[in-house]
Amino acid sequence: MSRAGGPRADLPSDFAPLLIDWQRRAGRSGMPWQNTRDPYRVWLSEVMLQQTQVSTVLGYYARFLERFPDVRALAAAEADEVMALWSGLGYYSRARNLHRCAQAVVEQHGGAFPSTAAGLETLPGIGASTAAAIAAFCFGERVSIVDGNVRRVLTRLLAFEGDLAQTKPQRELWEVAQALLPIEPSADDMTAYTQGLMDLGATVCTRSRPACGQCPMQGICRGYQAGEPQRFPVKTRTLKRRHESWWLLLVKLADGPERFWLQRRPASGIWAGLYCPPVFESEQGVHRDLPPAWVDRVIALDAVSHSLTHRELRLHPLLLVLTSEPLPGELPPGQWVDAGLLSQHGLPAPVKPLLQALLAPDLFERT
Ligand code: ADE
Repeated sequence: MSRAGGPRADLPSDFAPLLIDWQRRAGRSGMPWQNTRDPYRVWLSEVMLQQTQVSTVLGYYARFLERFPDVRALAAAEADEVMALWSGLGYYSRARNLHRCAQAVVEQHGGAFPSTAAGLETLPGIGASTAAAIAAFCFGERVSIVDGNVRRVLTRLLAFEGDLAQTKPQRELWEVAQALLPIEPSADDMTAYTQGLMDLGATVCTRSRPACGQCPMQGICRGYQAGEPQRFPVKTRTLKRRHESWWLLLVKLADGPERFWLQRRPASGIWAGLYCPPVFESEQGVHRDLPPAWVDRVIALDAVSHSLTHRELRLHPLLLVLTSEPLPGELPPGQWVDAGLLSQHGLPAPVKPLLQALLAPDLFERT
């Protein structure tokens, strides 16, 4: 039987106090997005931290806040500038939604974020767990986050056998998460509890080799007691990434200012809206689309691999150095971008070093 929000006899009653106490003693502190109840700052950090490590987020977070100190500044920005500041963080739909969300907060909520998880969840790019995190951190709402880390912590704690690819076990775990919340917490308790869930999952109850010896839950963890915490969450499906090869045509002019021929990617799909050298899905495609005299001048550079959520990309950079300005239609659609302006364009993470390498003088001695 489940009663949303209330204590349940089948669940450990001391989970919340143990977690709050542990977070205050041993959890992460002093991060730039902690010790604030400003929803703009918390929201920005939560979106950045969704699929990116803390160490990477730190620099991006500081640069974002410096350029966009509040939600109105972000809402008023050009989409291209937002994408450029996001460049390298990956999962670019986050940046597009970030911008849309800022605009929705300004246009529909007078510049103030909604103060409940339910209200926050109506905004672009804010899912249930992010909404819960913001509501708990900023408004002390008694609501649980349930992200990947939390699913791991809770399924191990309870030796939960359900398959989280299915809706019913997902809902059950969400009910468990709600039932484990502290009883009548203060806003500070909700902050420590929520941060504690994140910290425990990220630093102790890790995917492989969890540090059970250092875990405040060792005495109540059913996964540990069963001797196999790593078996949880139970996996029934493994993600298969499709392997694909792409050929990237890096074009530059031998003389004159350093600039690259880049194409804006379509609004949906891989690297949507980012600037990228023209992509070909076969080497023959390159030969077919370029003037024959240029095909012989194309130099194959070392291939690099890049993993996306559903794809394993093998990127084959091809360098074409032109001695004169191309005529209209000779190159695939695109535009010249000055090397000095690259940082103002959103570029896919693996493309940046490819372009940077072209700026190194030794490469041009070979051409
Ligand atoms: N991951 C998501 N949100 C986080 C936060 N507030 N602190 C650390 N890691 C996180």
